[in-house]
Amino acid sequence: MRVYSDAAKEHFTNPRNVGTLSEPDGKGSDANPSCGDRTTITLRVSSGRVSEIAFRTFGCTAAIASASQVTELALGRPVDGAWALEPADVLNALGGLPPDKEACALMAVGALRAALLDARVRT
Ligand code: FES
Repeated sequence: MRVYSDAAKEHFTNPRNVGTLSEPDGKGSDANPSCGDRTTITLRVSSGRVSEIAFRTFGCTAAIASASQVTELALGRPVDGAWALEPADVLNALGGLPPDKEACALMAVGALRAALLDARVRT
């Protein structure tokens, strides 16, 4: 049986920043090719910071918890600081994930970077 941390369970059962922003500054997706799960992130940038962010995930428990966590980590950060977030930052903030689920955190960071790149290209 997989054991999830309290923080991961909390994010899964009460995910933050769920949804899709209308007319976002940036939108990006990433998928896990091994399972077909996908996360999409939309965000707005104001004064060089991530001022609004939302996610949609079609995926596993860990993918949803990771996406929720990465939106919390990115919100309010300067764009460069959000870009610098690593999967390890998500895992640390979640108090870890079961070893066979750690790769699910990659998708959350990939979607964030895709959205940030899209915002950079558009502005
Ligand atoms: S099993 Fe597909 S992202 Fe977790």
